[in-house]
Amino acid sequence: MFRTPFVGGGMISKETVQLIKEKADIVQVISQYVSLQKSGSGYKGLCPFHSEKTPSFHVNPVLKFYHCFGCGASGDVIKFVQEIEHLSFRDAVMRLARQVGIDIPISTVRSDFTVYTAYLSRVHAKYISQLNKSKEATAYLKARGFTNQQIDNFELGYCPERSTIAVEMAREMTLPLRKAASFGLIKQTNGKYVDRFSNRIIIPIRNDSENLVAFGARTLGHEEPKYLNSPETRYFSKGSMLFLFHIAKKVAKKLDFIVLTEGYFDALAFHRAGVTNAVAILGTALTPEHIAKIASSTKNVILCFDSDDAGERATIRALELLVKQGLNVAIANLTEDDPDSLYQKRGPSSLKESLKAALQYEKYIVSVVSRKHDLSVSAGVEEFLVALKPWAQLLLSQRRFERYNRFIESVSATTNLSAAQIDEFFRSRKLRTISKVEHHKRHLPSGEEYLVYLYLTHEDMRNEIHNVDKSLFSERSRLFFEKMRESRDQIDALDEELKVWALKILEAIPPGDPVKILNDVKKQLQRKSLERRISEIDLEFTSTEDSTRKMKLLSERQKIARLLDKLGGGTGAK
Ligand code: CTP
Ligand code: MN
Repeated sequence: MFRTPFVGGGMISKETVQLIKEKADIVQVISQYVSLQKSGSGYKGLCPFHSEKTPSFHVNPVLKFYHCFGCGASGDVIKFVQEIEHLSFRDAVMRLARQVGIDIPISTVRSDFTVYTAYLSRVHAKYISQLNKSKEATAYLKARGFTNQQIDNFELGYCPERSTIAVEMAREMTLPLRKAASFGLIKQTNGKYVDRFSNRIIIPIRNDSENLVAFGARTLGHEEPKYLNSPETRYFSKGSMLFLFHIAKKVAKKLDFIVLTEGYFDALAFHRAGVTNAVAILGTALTPEHIAKIASSTKNVILCFDSDDAGERATIRALELLVKQGLNVAIANLTEDDPDSLYQKRGPSSLKESLKAALQYEKYIVSVVSRKHDLSVSAGVEEFLVALKPWAQLLLSQRRFERYNRFIESVSATTNLSAAQIDEFFRSRKLRTISKVEHHKRHLPSGEEYLVYLYLTHEDMRNEIHNVDKSLFSERSRLFFEKMRESRDQIDALDEELKVWALKILEAIPPGDPVKILNDVKKQLQRKSLERRISEIDLEFTSTEDSTRKMKLLSERQKIARLLDKLGGGTGAK
């Protein structure tokens, strides 16, 4: 089945995007997915991008910004819709536009992305028809157990040796060859353009909106490299791509788990076996972006990496990341090298069996680590426990006590130590290497933070606040006010760090009488500058010999002291 390439539409203007961001109520949009409670002048709730029990996901309507202090996810309303719905920027903007009732004037110019996917799709169609013509390529897939139906379903193709199909297609579409080369399908050899993938099976790679964005290409034989992929382009990045996620995301949401594999043919094997909530990373390590993607459809992952040593190491690395992000992980029980060979040797049902027999990660770790130590001697047991300690502390810090208990039980079963002894060892001394969960600390807001609060929440006070002397402010608040002044109050002029900082302030300060707050802050600033003058006087006093100067300093000091008395303490802002 071949999908039509044109996904419609040209560019959306910056102005329209800005208008949509202003009109869309971020709190209302996010409320459709997250139950939010009031927190200071903002809202908070359980983060939809990672699993947690206490809310660290904050949304602020003034900043038009969300931020999770647990997993670091943050952005504006468009980014939120993109991430939660797995949409492209463009599609997220379109969706929001519909919600707020804005008509998007679609320019007649085809966007770069449209050209990109159209070009890839048309080349893809040619490669599909080439597969039927090549006995060798068809035989290769048949040998791997593919039926015609499966070949059709997955839209597999073939790029013949020394092919110039992609070059000709670029010409046909009046696409400059240099441009086509930047799209990754052709390359220059000896001054001539040829297709990048010569004599290889072509596997289409689609993004989450089902647009064709890249190809994976496998040799028919044993040539190196075994796989050649589209290079990273503006629209394809391995670090954020999960192969077949456009299909798997819906199923994973429904079944509430996802199967994560290492290779194209592994994910394909699961789909062929009817397990369509399977995806593959593409020859890279698992990244936080991958995890965020997974976590938005389900918190439960079954890892199904290769069963060799490299696969085991990759499994442990992936586990560390997944568990830190609060996901539940189990490890499939593979009885062959990888899911694809399991499918080929033992048939589709064996893949389902491997999932049913999956091992919870807390047990898996114990078993993997135990094989690396000699548990027949006490030094080996000690090393074994030390190696497991970071995992124990991660489980404890995340309050996953049920898992923790199962964890110590299986350690106990492996070592003949009692669960109580092991528990004591794991809880003793600090040896935190894995855990890095950061919580934002509460502190009393300072005067300058009150000003930031007033500035953001009371437009009518902005001019007055701009006139306040900020020489005593921290660099961060000075930067904040500078950016606001320069950009005429465009929140987007703030970088993400400043937004997160402002968000904390907005939430830490309870609403109060703005005029009184401003006066208090001004008083406090005056106080600060008078106090600073006093320390200057004191310094000069001890260092000067000039007695008239000393008299002068003394009298100025007295004056200031009286002023300070008059100002009094007890300002609302500390
Ligand atoms: N990979 C890649 N480039 C390579 C080797 C591997 O992009 N030169 C990626 C592919 O996505 C591949 C995955 O890493 O599917 C896993 O690699 P490997 O285990 O070596 O390949 P298999 O999936 O087992 O490949 P096959 O079954 O086709 O032999
Ligand atoms: Mn493999």
